[in-house]
Formats: sequence, C-alpha cells, structure tokens
Amino acid sequence: MVKKVFQFQYPLANKEGHLSFDGFDVEELAEEFDTPLYLISESRIRNNFKRLYNALAHNYHKIRIYYAAKANSNLSVLNILKSEGAFLDAVSPGEVFLALKTGFSPEKILFTGTSVRDDELRFIADSDVTVNIDSFSELKRLLAHVVPKVLSVRINPEIGSGHHDHCITAGRETKFGLWENETLKTYTTAKKAGVEKFGIHMHIGSGILDLEPIILAFDNLLRLAKKIHDRIGITFEFVNMGGGLGVPYKPEDNELDLSIFSKRILSLLKRRIVEYDLGTPFFCLEPGRYLVSDASILLTSVNTLKITPFKKFIGVDAGFNTLARPSMYGSYHHLLVANKLNSTQNEIYDVVGPICESGDVLARDRRLPQIEEGDLLAILNAGAYGFAMSSQYNSRPKAAEVLIKDKKCLLVRKRETFDSLLSNQQIEE
Ligand code: LLP
Repeated sequence: MVKKVFQFQYPLANKEGHLSFDGFDVEELAEEFDTPLYLISESRIRNNFKRLYNALAHNYHKIRIYYAAKANSNLSVLNILKSEGAFLDAVSPGEVFLALKTGFSPEKILFTGTSVRDDELRFIADSDVTVNIDSFSELKRLLAHVVPKVLSVRINPEIGSGHHDHCITAGRETKFGLWENETLKTYTTAKKAGVEKFGIHMHIGSGILDLEPIILAFDNLLRLAKKIHDRIGITFEFVNMGGGLGVPYKPEDNELDLSIFSKRILSLLKRRIVEYDLGTPFFCLEPGRYLVSDASILLTSVNTLKITPFKKFIGVDAGFNTLARPSMYGSYHHLLVANKLNSTQNEIYDVVGPICESGDVLARDRRLPQIEEGDLLAILNAGAYGFAMSSQYNSRPKAAEVLIKDKKCLLVRKRETFDSLLSNQQIEE
C-alpha cells in the first residue's frame, strides 16, 4: 500500500513554507502568546457541527447532537456549540456547572455519570438536567431525592470498540452501563415511581472509524428498547447512540464517510421503529472528538537538541502535562515544523517534553526536516482531549488557549502562572 502524504486542510495552510492557522501565521502567534499554546478555530468547529447535523438531518427529521464537553470544555468552545444549537453531554457536576454558566438550558443537558455521589446527584437533579442512569444504585438514590419527569438509562449493548483498551466502554470488561436484567428492573422501578418520559442510551467507546460495531451495538439497543416497550409499556422520547466517531490522526487514516454513517444508522433506526412499534423518538448522538479535534493545534517550541549514540531527541516545551494522549494511549499526533514546511524530511527524531519521566514522548521515530533549537512545532488534532486532559504535573503551569474568531485572535484562557501553583494551598504552621 502506498503511504498517503499529508494534505493541508482548513484551518491549516502552507504559506511559502510557513504554517498558517485560520489565516494567521503561527510563528507570529507563538511570538505574541508564547508556547505551549493551543489555537482553536471557531469556524472549523462550526463547519464540523453543520456537516454532521446536515448529514443526519438528511435521513431523519428528529435529530439532537449532544456535544460531549469532556473533549474540550473551554467556555468559548461550549458557547460556539451552543449557538449552533447543540445539546450537551456532561459527565460531571463540574461540566453541568460550566454548561449552565455558558447558557445551555437544563433541558438540553444530559448528565451521564459513573460512580456518582449522593450530593452530586442532588446537585444534578436540582439543576433540572436530565439524568442518564448508569447503575440501579444511582436510580434508587436519585428517587430518594426526587422523581424526575424525564429519565434516560445507559445500557451496555454488549459490543464495545475504541482506539485503545481504556477507551472501550461496552462489553464484558467495562464498568459502564446496565445489562439487560438490571435495565428492565431500572425502567420498571422508575415508571412505578412516576417518571413520565424516557430515553435509552449507549456509548460503546471512542475513536471508532469502523462503523460495524456501532451499527451492531445500536441494533442491540433497539432490540432491548422493544423488550422494554413490550414488557413495561414505555415509549421512548429519545434513543441515544452515544459518541465515538473517530477522526483521522495519521495521514493514511481515512475519514469517516458521514453520508454512509448517517444512511446506515438511520435506515436501521427507521426500519426498527416501525418493526418494533417504537413511535418516532429523537435520534441523539454525543460526539466530542469529531466536533473539536481538528479545530485545534498545539504549538510548542524546540529548546534542546540532543544526539545520543542511539537516538536524536528534540526537546520541546510541551510534555504529557500539556498533551497526555501520546503517553497515555500511545496515540499518534501528526507534527509539522511550522517554520520549515517545505524542507526535505530527512531526519528521524523522538520528540520529548520537559517532564521528568521517560514516558514523556510526544512522537517517536518521526521523520522531520533537520531541526534546530528555536524551531516551532505544531501538533495537530489537539482539540479533543488535549487541554482537557492537561495537568500541572511537575509543577508546570497550564498552557494558554487562543481562539480565532472572525479573523481575530482572542486569548480565551490565560496561561497559568507560578501563582496558579499556589492556589488552594496553605502551609500549616
Ligand atoms: N458520550 C459518553 C458517555 C462518553 O463517555 C464519551 C467519551 C463521549 C460521548 C464522547 O466520545 P467521543 O465522540 O469524543 O469519542 N481521553 C480519550 C477519550 C475518552 C472518551 C471518554 N468518553 C482520548 O483522548 O482518546
């Protein structure tokens, strides 16, 4: 197979060997805002949302897209998606708080927790957001506080998939969702308690480019919905297939074909709702990565070149404290040398960060142009699970985030300072 070469796609462009991002020269942005720096393109997020929504709306008329805030919970990102008409998938009280602060109305927020505490459940219920139950225990504890009008249940459709074991969230090994018996018991109990409207939910994993597992799992969900409908007399307001849509990280990865995805999943839905007498539920999905991943890059500067008898290391100022995915999952993120786009790539390097662990590797054995200290690297597809998973490990203040909106660069999250390291700490004398 011929290896595909990297193609520049909006918001990235090659301007005479220099990288531009949504119309801005990234070297100038690095100069102005310093590195490590996350850049976010507002219009790319909007394009991603519209493309997905239109592809789905083409095949079914009741669509809801819940943005999975865990991928990137920057308030500006939430605000952009809110204005596109997105609903919101929250997995923690903190995400519910941020979504409400951004102005999402509670009816548009679905809380899908796991190992949820009582006080958290009370906060969620009192906020009037819809709860997506992940255990019978959670239902009992919720009902002890309040009987919600609407309730969703996360089922385990017995088929999982994902780019890494950590990101497979259905099937035998996972803590998530309810198996059939518990599901029936949960809906029965909720209905008896007085819940009026219901949803059913699954999320089988993340970073999925092969549609087969999603289709099979969704069919399992619909079969279970029929059983619940027949036995308990529930008609579902919404069916939710969760998130998981993958994006290409490597130049040779293929994009998901949205029209095929939409056609396959929605023709299955349309067939089954007639066959199973399920009414006309909303079709919901919860993309995180798909909406934000390629709308952001991470800029990092080269400060050290180190040649050992075995390796050539490029030392940069972003580590797994800034972008955890490569060391956490062995994930590939494509790299560009922003100031040398037209140079021949004739060297092999490992790109490493400033964290004092050997696992602090952003890229291994990567073919790049000859690197010098002072060069600027752009790490692509940094918008999903990038800043969101960053930490202050090694007492390093977190990076800044800049949003490109209407041809303007806006600092939407300040770089942390040493003072940030002190926050909430006190020395007991
Ligand atoms: N819905 C639920 C219930 C989820 O748990 C998730 C992701 C999503 C939706 C969104 O999944 P997405 O469309 O973004 O694949 N940190 C990992 C990904 C973990 C995803 C956790 N749950 C990574 O960097 O690949």
